[in-house]
Amino acid sequence: MIFTELGKTGLKTSQVGVGCWQAGSKSWGWGKEYGERDIIEAIRTAVELGINFIDTAEMYGDGKSERIVGKAIKEVRERVIIATKVWPTHLAYNGVLKACKRSLERLGVDVIDLYQIHWPNPFIPISQTMRAMERLVKEGKIRHIGVSNFSLRQLIKAQESLKSEEIVSNQVKYNMIERDAEKELLPYAEKNKITIIAYSPLAQGLLTGKYDQYHLPDDTVRKVNILFDRENLKRLQPLISLLKTIASKRGKKPSQIAINWLIRRPEVVVIPGVKRAEQVKENASATDFRLTDDEVKMIDEVLRSIRLVKLSSMLRIPLRLLT
Ligand SMILES: NC(=O)c1ccc[n+]([C@@H]2O[C@H](COP(=O)([O-])OP(=O)(O)OC[C@H]3O[C@@H](n4cnc5c(N)ncnc54)[C@H](OP(=O)(O)O)[C@@H]3O)[C@@H](O)[C@H]2O)c1
Repeated sequence: MIFTELGKTGLKTSQVGVGCWQAGSKSWGWGKEYGERDIIEAIRTAVELGINFIDTAEMYGDGKSERIVGKAIKEVRERVIIATKVWPTHLAYNGVLKACKRSLERLGVDVIDLYQIHWPNPFIPISQTMRAMERLVKEGKIRHIGVSNFSLRQLIKAQESLKSEEIVSNQVKYNMIERDAEKELLPYAEKNKITIIAYSPLAQGLLTGKYDQYHLPDDTVRKVNILFDRENLKRLQPLISLLKTIASKRGKKPSQIAINWLIRRPEVVVIPGVKRAEQVKENASATDFRLTDDEVKMIDEVLRSIRLVKLSSMLRIPLRLLT
């Protein structure tokens, strides 16, 4: 496993973590083929393999994910960094304090290592939220403050409203296909030692190579993801083929190439969402090789040649939901 510093905290986090949205998901969300036991086994396997970063949120299954994470890490609490998130409707001063108390109870821990604002809320001043966050740090209920889905402007404003703490991370969507973070956030993060926690690092499973226009996932989360539109899956095939070629030459899986590509940057931590221990095992061993410059160049070239169907296709989503 490869480790990197979380922000400037001195905490060493594994560059591959575990995402636990799936842990709390209703059966219609991420699918029905796995359950609580699978997730607990997956998290415990992750810790055995040296993964120490676990991401959850109060929103995932209305607290179910936090409860499962709590059960899974009970015996190994000191070995893991627990990151959870407060939902944007709870960002008023008292709302943050109450949400944190509930998360601590569900997780069964005394302190949350990284407490993140899940999404910005334009109706609540960030200074109010951050006052509550700093109080939580002073009271020892959280160790560090992070944000998620913040633009650069929102991140800077959030930093400016903190008095004694610093923002250590911004959790944003980042994978080979969805690279908005590279425009402003990554250069800023690198310069200011802020960790970018990449969510959907496998583009919700698309970069594993197991889906194409003839093999679509059947869950609601991905039915509403425009990347899983049949036309987009078709257009993405050259990328999937290249990932398969590189992977087979190296005795790896396409998912491992996709993860390795992201963690080339030491300021990036990835949190692939998992349903079973085998997925964790695969994701963990995405760190034991390094893509060559030529391989990275080939991936970039293929990506440049792909044009995806974007907003106009949103009209197709209601149709797919009915199918
Ligand atoms: N802050 C936010 O707003 C936000 C938003 C989204 C997600 N997140 C966080 O980020 C995490 C990851 O994002 P994500 O779940 O959207 O997408 P992801 O990690 O790109 O994809 C997860 C899916 O990929 C498949 N998978 C994972 N590892 C695999 C492997 N080794 N081999 C084959 N398939 C594999 C699994 O689905 P199948 O087996 O069904 O294909 C899994 O459900 C979430 O769990 C959550 O913690 C945060």
